[in-house]
Amino acid sequence: MSYKFEIKDANLHYGSFQALYDINLDVPQKQVMAFIGPSGCGKSTLLKCLNRMNDLVEGCNVEGDFLLDGEDIYRDIEVTSLRKRVGMVFQKSNLFPMSIYDNIAFGPRTHGIKKKAELDEIVETCLKQAAIWDECKDRLKKSALGMSGGQQQRLCIARALAVKPEVILMDEPTSALDPISTLKVEELCTELKRKYTIVIVTHNMQQAMRIADRTAFFLHGRIEEEGPTERIFNNPHNEKTREYIGGQFG
Ligand SMILES: Nc1ncnc2c1ncn2[C@@H]1O[C@H](COP(=O)(O)OP(=O)(O)OP(=O)(O)O)[C@@H](O)[C@H]1O
Ligand SMILES: [Mg+2]
Repeated sequence: MSYKFEIKDANLHYGSFQALYDINLDVPQKQVMAFIGPSGCGKSTLLKCLNRMNDLVEGCNVEGDFLLDGEDIYRDIEVTSLRKRVGMVFQKSNLFPMSIYDNIAFGPRTHGIKKKAELDEIVETCLKQAAIWDECKDRLKKSALGMSGGQQQRLCIARALAVKPEVILMDEPTSALDPISTLKVEELCTELKRKYTIVIVTHNMQQAMRIADRTAFFLHGRIEEEGPTERIFNNPHNEKTREYIGGQFG
């Protein structure tokens, strides 16, 4: 088994508040890993460590080893190259107020791709990969903000794909979507894992069961239990996991 991420003895503080305790976690490549657990337990915090989004938070102190393909994310990899390799999609669409085309072409342009034919090709491929091409091929020059919420979320995924990442981090990508758009994003995850590693935070346990190969259950800044999704949901070893997935708290 080859791991995309290996996290070893990680602890994280926001100032004097400790948000993550003794995290050890391996994320296999080309699979979907779900992070579940009650609000405030550290899911987004750990997700953001994987592409160093926490660097922007003043007072945030990260300890331990975070390896991407065996390379140390905090010591060996340059942050711009890391962010290109590890893309992120947030809870709410954060498209730029520009055309659909320019949103997708933005990343490739910053990385030096200027030729129109090449950009056209990237835009079309990514929109197709994100299962949104048919809905926007006739309006590429129109504002991305004119698309529906569900369409905007798939555009965010297309934009993340445009810089050819290896990993896509998703923080509750469907929490603001209707059931049909949610299913589209879920189908997309299942399709994308053929080429990418996906780590997704979700409050929706059915969603974790539908799409995740493995699931990690967080509580109070610790990973209480991690394993194959089916085992976590059908035969949790930990009492707290059992109570959480049984709906007794959360
Ligand atoms: N920038 C920050 N500064 C200080 N504390 C923070 C910061 N971000 C998060 N925290 C705290 O760290 C803890 C973990 O937060 P985090 O956002 O990782 O939780 P979460 O599991 O993603 O919750 P939710 O399901 O509500 O999104 C919380 O107690 C939160 O208040
Ligand atoms: Mg969160």
